[in-house]
Amino acid sequence: MGFTSDKVTDYISSFYRPLDEDLGRFREFNEENDVPLILKETESFLSLLLEMTRPKRILEIGTAYGYSALFFARKLPDAVITTIDRNVHMIPVADSSFEDRPEGSRIDFRTGDAENILEEMVEEMKADPEGHPPYDFVFIDAGKSHYRAFFDMAEQLAGPGSLIVCDNILMHGWTVDRSYEGAKRHRTNVKYMRQFIEYINERKDLTVSLLSSGDGLAVIRLNDRQK
Ligand SMILES: C[S@@+](CC[C@H](N)C(=O)[O-])C[C@H]1O[C@@H](n2cnc3c(N)ncnc32)[C@H](O)[C@@H]1O
Repeated sequence: MGFTSDKVTDYISSFYRPLDEDLGRFREFNEENDVPLILKETESFLSLLLEMTRPKRILEIGTAYGYSALFFARKLPDAVITTIDRNVHMIPVADSSFEDRPEGSRIDFRTGDAENILEEMVEEMKADPEGHPPYDFVFIDAGKSHYRAFFDMAEQLAGPGSLIVCDNILMHGWTVDRSYEGAKRHRTNVKYMRQFIEYINERKDLTVSLLSSGDGLAVIRLNDRQK
């Protein structure tokens, strides 16, 4: 059981409308195949956030079958998206999801471990800052115990004013309270997630909002480091 009652989730989700028929069918395909993807209420929130901020360069860590990357690309026709995944079962499906749709041409799909890829991207950016403009929106939706490492590198690739949104920070409630079912098995992930949440909240140069929407979201704005 999650930390929000099923009644609340069902009520909120009843107002969800997919962006279009194709994405609606693609969501169903992901759900039927038990492939993890952004929850409906998370998508609705991201939709609003993207409309408000209109990012031009999006970085996503955790592609799976490519649902959220396609959602970003279709939502923002002027944006380019870089998305990263390492799972050999997901990669071919994501590849064909992008090839089959016109928005796929704006999606740069990088395969391999995100920590290595992000490290390479930071090096490339340091070597040629002009050729690598900052990302203005980052979505972290991958290995829960690595959020701190992903965040540290993502912030180097993003500029002041950029948003970094982290999904699943409450991990079914385990982050809050160990009595939630399943928490004991995920002790290490919980420990790292708690440390990450404390870290971002201690930083004076970040504006942080923790939301209980979906599986929990951290919305982080990188402020001017001088302040
Ligand atoms: C929750 S799914 C992503 C869902 C996707 N954002 C969506 O909404 O359609 C998480 C993905 O992160 C990937 N992942 C986890 N740890 C990773 C890592 N260290 N490097 C690259 N990919 C990773 C997994 O393979 C999985 O496909």
